[in-house]
Amino acid sequence: MTARIGSKGKVLKVAAITDISTEDTPRKSTDIDELNRVLGGGMVTGSAILIGGDPGIGKSTLLLQASSNLADASPHVLYITGEESVAQVKMRGERIDALSPNLLLIAASELESIMETINKQKPSVVVIDSIQTMVSNRLTSAPGTVSQVRDCAAALIQQAKQFGHPLILVGHVTKDGSIAGPRVLEHMVDTVLYFEGDKGHNHRILRSVKNRFGPAGEIGVFEMSDRGLIGIRDASRLFLNQRAKDAPGSVVLACLEGTRPLLVEVQALVAPTVYATPKRSSVGLDVNRVGMLTAVLERRIGIPLSRHDVYVNVTGGARILEPAADLAILIAILSAYQEQAIPGKLALFGEVGLTGEVRPVGNPESRMREAASLGFTHVLMPKQNCDRVQESGLTDTLRHQTRMTCLGARDLAQAAQLAIVSR
Ligand code: TYD
Ligand code: MG
Repeated sequence: MTARIGSKGKVLKVAAITDISTEDTPRKSTDIDELNRVLGGGMVTGSAILIGGDPGIGKSTLLLQASSNLADASPHVLYITGEESVAQVKMRGERIDALSPNLLLIAASELESIMETINKQKPSVVVIDSIQTMVSNRLTSAPGTVSQVRDCAAALIQQAKQFGHPLILVGHVTKDGSIAGPRVLEHMVDTVLYFEGDKGHNHRILRSVKNRFGPAGEIGVFEMSDRGLIGIRDASRLFLNQRAKDAPGSVVLACLEGTRPLLVEVQALVAPTVYATPKRSSVGLDVNRVGMLTAVLERRIGIPLSRHDVYVNVTGGARILEPAADLAILIAILSAYQEQAIPGKLALFGEVGLTGEVRPVGNPESRMREAASLGFTHVLMPKQNCDRVQESGLTDTLRHQTRMTCLGARDLAQAAQLAIVSR
């Protein structure tokens, strides 16, 4: 069989990697520090950014604030709403003081007309709120279906690349499989941000899960006020401000979200079970990990938890995914079981393996600095991390300022002892 040869293509230009210029990726600042940081320093020309999140979490609010700021600095920003009327958007704008005269609004959902308008207006930034409301007249399927969402997004992204404007797509997270959520777009865009938080709390976390132009895993913390979203620089204070002092089962974890150190309170409750199989449950942490750590506690230091339910919670609605939370979870459970409070001035972090060994984690220095800045005097951490910060001279510097002590643990038993002794 002979290979089929199609029509002859043209020879494409090749370039050595060393000769490619990267200087022409200017970024537009949104004037919202927390958002800029999550984006990796601002919006890159021609890039496509997806912001996903539950309905009502604050996506439109954040984008209207950002759009108005961007419009103050650029020729004009085009905000296309498929969900609300322009009057509704203006009312929100009045409330949050986002009324730049360069911010242009349209309430529309037909893709072809929108693209024609972008073509004519040549805006410096385009916001589509939301991609699920857009419809292309070339397709017969209903708005919000996978084919509509994907086709509309692809066309808008291609146009953005061609004209060089940053494109922001809002996507609702949906539980119903028949309607396309932001997941179907993740591979098409350059940056994916998720807006999280629960309705019971005022704070919101914006997390980058993919970013071609900056680090992924970065977070921005906001508080929803009656005048829109306010960036919170000092997030640790927010998560710790209602901490019960000297209560058994409560510890402070020095975790790292992206490049940002954050102190959060981890609480545990241990109670005799009434079920055949005891419950292991968690809020803000991976429940499988909690189950595994409970087993480590039983087997490695002989705490009999097989007839006890174990509940673990990160207060304030934060969600912690890194393994460096292990040690905090274990010490919280131990403290709850023994009904013995952990000293209020102790923060901790570290990964724990199945043999009960405490394993080093990344960036102990910035975790320790954050703890010191909030007045903690002791940080319990993996031995190897402790050795490293001591070698770096950081403990001496911090001790000088706040009497900071670094406690290094090799295994769980030693960590448990140090946590109590640091009193
Ligand atoms: P919104 O931005 O419309 O959410 P999304 O676009 O993600 O669906 O925000 C909706 C919620 O935010 C709504 O319940 C009202 C609240 N909110 C405030 O608390 N303060 C404000 O200044 C604004 C504009 C909204
Ligand atoms: Mg909205």
